[in-house]
Amino acid sequence: MSNDSILVLDDVGRRFGGVPAVDGLSISVPPGTITGLIGPNGAGKTTVINLIMGILKLTSGRILFNGRDVSEVEAVDLAHAGMARTFQNIRLVMQGTVLDNVLSGFHIDRPSGFWSNLLGGRAARAERSAHRAEATALLERFGMAHLAEHRAGTLSYGHQRRIEMMRALAMKPKLLLLDEPVAGMNDAEASELGQIFSQVAASGVAILLVEHNMRFVTQICSHLYVVASGRLIAQGPHQSALADPAVIEAYLGS
Ligand SMILES: Nc1ncnc2c1ncn2[C@@H]1O[C@H](COP(=O)(O)OP(=O)(O)O)[C@@H](O)[C@H]1O
Ligand SMILES: [Mg+2]
Repeated sequence: MSNDSILVLDDVGRRFGGVPAVDGLSISVPPGTITGLIGPNGAGKTTVINLIMGILKLTSGRILFNGRDVSEVEAVDLAHAGMARTFQNIRLVMQGTVLDNVLSGFHIDRPSGFWSNLLGGRAARAERSAHRAEATALLERFGMAHLAEHRAGTLSYGHQRRIEMMRALAMKPKLLLLDEPVAGMNDAEASELGQIFSQVAASGVAILLVEHNMRFVTQICSHLYVVASGRLIAQGPHQSALADPAVIEAYLGS
């Protein structure tokens, strides 16, 4: 377990009604690169993200963030400490504009409060204009400035994925957890998004990329962990991890 990792899962387990969904999993995620967590459907990948984010509680093991044991820390405090995520199933306010969806990322305490306070007072307006400048910079970086006032629900899947990503980046996270971010995209869209992920990582963010799509992860991850039935079955730099017979069997068997 390397000391410079921002996130360390140490022998983490989670059971649902006695059945282990995650079983004795140890992984570490360093800043500045993309770490992949891959495995067949039902392997426990989304559960791992929910454990890291404090959405689910561990049944065994511990999680360290920045060297601090955060196993018992609540989700909202972890968000303040620098964790952000995207969801396997896109969660946007589809009636809201692209800009408003990105702006909602600045309000981790009360994302819904953001929407009801759009017409707030002077202090709220000043804060909003600062956030608006940062959001605009994000939109430019993601090539979506021209779509700022479009409703999220009218845009393509690839664009909606980008909105989620911008919303997650709005809080300048130290750790970004991506749950199957290219599901449903073609190879061209995926590799375009992959380049953005690589840039985000290069800016010093630690990224844990959860994926089912093996081709995509081999393009952009520097280290891979492979799970099946909640257990680590292989790990290493991508080619070596994927060549493992246990990995081939887990994928072919699913
Ligand atoms: N809230 C839950 N309650 C009960 N079982 C769950 C819950 N969440 C996940 N599981 C089970 O845990 C296992 C792993 O699920 P999941 O983490 O979603 O896998 P993956 O994301 O790799 O497809 C599955 O068997 C799933 O049915
Ligand atoms: Mg999942």
